[in-house]
Amino acid sequence: LEAVQRAWAAAGRAAADLRFETFGSSGRLAAQAFTVRVPRHDLAITVPADCSLLDALDAAGVQTLWDCRRGECGLCAMDVLAVDGEIDHRDVFLSAHEKQATTRICACVSRAVGTLTLDSAYRADA
Ligand code: FES
Repeated sequence: LEAVQRAWAAAGRAAADLRFETFGSSGRLAAQAFTVRVPRHDLAITVPADCSLLDALDAAGVQTLWDCRRGECGLCAMDVLAVDGEIDHRDVFLSAHEKQATTRICACVSRAVGTLTLDSAYRADA
């Protein structure tokens, strides 16, 4: 699909004119436990191999937004502050450029190897 999208763009066609259907991605890397730090909550948690980042954050008490839980809507996207390792983007919401920039991650489906530092949407009342 990415090859078709590149060829489409190289032909000068508008991205919005390309119609396609997406399916879930099992990622480039095998699922394994990784660490996520959330400085705003003073948290460092381990995301087990059989648990999503979104569920691990929820279990740790970090409020998140989500809808589809399939990597399609982008509502769960969180800001990445630092990556010590590699992000395995498994969503179809973020663009290839956004994935390469590693500044956001869709917490419902995407994972990491190593340690991620994320920001949450939480802001203390003034
Ligand atoms: S909840 Fe929709 S992309 Fe994560």
